Amino acid sequence: MDIFNKQRYTITSALPYANGPLHIGHLAGAYIPGDIFVRFLRLNNKDVVYVCGSDEHGAAITIKAKKEGVTPQEIIDKYNKQIKDSFEEFGIAFNIYHRTSEPIHHQLSQEFFLNLHEKGEFIERFSEQYFDEEYQQFLADRYIVGTCPHCHNEGAYGDQCEKCGTSLNPTDLINPKSTLSGKEPILKETKHWYLPLDKYQPWLEKWLIEGKKDILKSNVFGQCQSWLKTGLQPRSMTRDLDWGVDVPLAEAEGKKLYVWLDAPIGYISATKQWAIDEGKDWELYWKKQANEADDSTLIHFIGKDNIVFHCITFPAILHAHGEYILPENVPANEFLNLEGDKLSTSRNHAVWLHEYLEEFPNKQDELRYMLTSILPETSDSEFTWKDFQARVNNELVAILGNFVNRVMVLSHKYFEGKVFLGSALTTQDQAVLDELSKFPDLIKQSLSQYRFREALANFMNAARLGNKYLADEEPWKTIKTDEERVKTVLYVASQIVANLAVLGQPFLPFSSTRVFEMLNLPAQDWTAAGEAHLIPNGHQLGESQLLFDKITDEQVEFQLQKLAQAKASNTLAAPKAAAKANISFDDFAKLDIRVGKILTAEKVAKTKKLLKLTIDTGIDKRTVVSGIAEHFTPEEIIGKQVSILVNLEPREIKGIQSQGMILMAEEADGRLDFVNPISEVSAGSTIR
Ligand code: 2FM
Ligand code: ZN
Repeated sequence: MDIFNKQRYTITSALPYANGPLHIGHLAGAYIPGDIFVRFLRLNNKDVVYVCGSDEHGAAITIKAKKEGVTPQEIIDKYNKQIKDSFEEFGIAFNIYHRTSEPIHHQLSQEFFLNLHEKGEFIERFSEQYFDEEYQQFLADRYIVGTCPHCHNEGAYGDQCEKCGTSLNPTDLINPKSTLSGKEPILKETKHWYLPLDKYQPWLEKWLIEGKKDILKSNVFGQCQSWLKTGLQPRSMTRDLDWGVDVPLAEAEGKKLYVWLDAPIGYISATKQWAIDEGKDWELYWKKQANEADDSTLIHFIGKDNIVFHCITFPAILHAHGEYILPENVPANEFLNLEGDKLSTSRNHAVWLHEYLEEFPNKQDELRYMLTSILPETSDSEFTWKDFQARVNNELVAILGNFVNRVMVLSHKYFEGKVFLGSALTTQDQAVLDELSKFPDLIKQSLSQYRFREALANFMNAARLGNKYLADEEPWKTIKTDEERVKTVLYVASQIVANLAVLGQPFLPFSSTRVFEMLNLPAQDWTAAGEAHLIPNGHQLGESQLLFDKITDEQVEFQLQKLAQAKASNTLAAPKAAAKANISFDDFAKLDIRVGKILTAEKVAKTKKLLKLTIDTGIDKRTVVSGIAEHFTPEEIIGKQVSILVNLEPREIKGIQSQGMILMAEEADGRLDFVNPISEVSAGSTIR
């Protein structure tokens, strides 16, 4: 199936929460791929609408407002503007960047809810949920924190533990606390409307697993398969929140639509608004047409945290409604890491787009290029500033910029910026032009499979072809003997430059525009790509401009320093977890903690974290399995004194009986250290 053969396209990129600025991870997840794809469609004169907007509802917004001591409205106004500006600056070419706080969106979300409600699609259920008595509020998702039952992280949220990644329900948390009052919540009964995803499971299996096996990317298909295998459960579509779209039922006062029935419908309401502004018919882009062949092709660009949302929940909603088209594809990306660590807003471990723009003015294409080269298309990938420098200096400057610059400078130097076909094309010239004509299709093939990295690499190979041609022909030498030949060499080289301008448009829109300016040519669409004679004989070129310049060591150093400072201030400012509830002395006295000595240490095979230790406890010599292998090598800890809880119930870990637990001190950033006496004491000394 040729994805570029459709007549109409509806392309979406995930609506970002308007609760903070954007960083490079956002761009690499859902926006750069979406933008490249859409630019390619437009270059091919396709009918396409590309929509996005701010997700302005939910706990993400109200919690941020509380933190900053302002109203939710102030938060969404501030960040909607900042996010919108960043997208514009980076050339992300939405037809509309909308907001879910607009009335047109509230209406449409409510219409969806009522449509499903009237059809009897929802299950109405009473359940006990956490409630903050002081604030008189139910505590959805991020309003509740506690200890993760899986990894014992004390800062896990009601919907997810960010440390181990597990999805949670608020009632899974150990020691739950309200983030509003800090107090322990009570359980209180409340009614919600659930979408019976289990009921749609057979339909989803047919549509997704049978129908999209060869269409979805492997990382996306795998996730869907595993969700379906686990078995889908009814999901609540409403929440007890005070910020969002009202549930449009009299009996649901104070309840709001949950993100599933809100954010993705934002794609549709954005399209509606765009249609009003532009005099278009929005239903052509979203509704099933009388003839299936006339349906628009819907593609969602997202990050991996939204896969289930767009492959299961939203399609189930669209299916239940009945009038809407379903996504053709959901080319989700994995995550981008930064300098060996996860990107993190709360730890300020990020490259913020608005800061990048200040620190690297007019270098939008450089970042677009870098991110496209390392997109986490099928697995997580890594941004480092050294790599950024290398890719800009060794590729953009040395290959693309250098080629374009040499052609411009030589043409001005020898022929006052005029392009002439001098002596007839040689077989080498023809071979180079033939080779050039193959790139448009190579790029198209890669894009049709959402392989953006490969598409970009193909584009750069076209620039390499140009460099090689100049190096082989050496016009700077030939000029002394054969001016007519040099005219032709620069004619051929200029055609390569013109092709680079055409082919580069999806990836490097700003630079392509500048190359067209330099060439004194109007921008051309994809029908021009691969053409051997884009620049007519006798054409006058424009002024030469420098396309890219180098990233200096100082710039890299500055960025690394900035990240290091953020890390340092995090460690200092990291909030300490609140003290646990009091226990009696008798409870404490039950713990038998001793000073022991590590006699042997070795890694447990096929694990990353575990060390098998033999400890002299003074009472005996015993085996303990400890999760410290990522922090210490066996060699460095043998002979060290440690504190060990010796009367902990023995436990089998990876087939090894572990008898006791080594006590460790944990820093806020996860670093571990032993708890041991200042001077050596005899093994078996008690700790009390
Ligand atoms: O996860 C998020 O960032 C939410 N704002 C939802 C994004 S996807 C959506 F727009 F459908
Ligand atoms: Zn956890």
